[in-house]
Amino acid sequence: MIKLGDCMLVNFKQMLNAARKEKRAIPHFNINNLEWTKYILEECEKLQEPVILGVSESASKYMGGFHTIVGFVKGLIKDLNITIPVCLHLDHGKTFEICKKAIDAGFSSVMIDASKLELTENIKLTKKVVDYAHKHNVTVEAEIGYIGEQKEKMPDRAIATVEDCLNLYEQTGIDALAPALGNLHGFYEREPNLNFERMKEISSSIFIPLVLHGGSGIPDKQIKKAIQYGINKINVNTELQSAWTQAIRKYIENNQEEYDPRKIIGSGEKAIKKVVLEKIKIFNTSQEENHENN
Ligand code: 13P
Repeated sequence: MIKLGDCMLVNFKQMLNAARKEKRAIPHFNINNLEWTKYILEECEKLQEPVILGVSESASKYMGGFHTIVGFVKGLIKDLNITIPVCLHLDHGKTFEICKKAIDAGFSSVMIDASKLELTENIKLTKKVVDYAHKHNVTVEAEIGYIGEQKEKMPDRAIATVEDCLNLYEQTGIDALAPALGNLHGFYEREPNLNFERMKEISSSIFIPLVLHGGSGIPDKQIKKAIQYGINKINVNTELQSAWTQAIRKYIENNQEEYDPRKIIGSGEKAIKKVVLEKIKIFNTSQEENHENN
């Protein structure tokens, strides 16, 4: 009998703190279905790399809900004999209720994204989530400034201030912080222009790992520099989506008669694993190499 209780999910504290000491970044890969999750876990196990599986609110609805996700992630850990630390993390939870729901279902980590609110309201909501999460040994990431999509720019909040970061950090007890630094979700329309100076100032002022959202399409050189400047968790979704879709589109074009969904969906496996491998290689760039890239 499968005892899913034995399949531990861990919060991100230990993995991110180790990454902070070693100047590297832990990958946060968003999952959108069972197959992706399997491919990501298999590749990370092969590389012996801890991983954060990110689930957005909309992806959780698409996959059936938080309990379904906890069930299949734990099932995969058991059935695939996964030994690396795996953190199951709610990505961009917008309310206390949604974070609580994920925690109660068994998620080991949550992000409360109150970045659209004024600072005092952001602090209030974030603190409420931290108080609940920490009672359950669940880690909390918060956002400050506003990391949006290409189309919905908020210029006044595109870059977080050190003062706001300090206030949020000191008044809430969060475990990781995602400051807006000119990064955006989705592919960038032009070369991203990250504010490295601010990144450096923030990371030398607050003593928790920093998170870089919108990790797709940022040139390797900038990723390495960001790690050198204090980023320890990098979120990737769009590049996985794009690679998977391109592979499937090609498979269908070349196999017009095929109707077995396992073959069609499974034809994206190599593409997902390739992105995972490439990202992990860059995120693990050593400190020495980072210096060369400055
Ligand atoms: P991308 O889709 O741009 O990779 O961003 C992912 C992300 O930041 C999820 O929180």
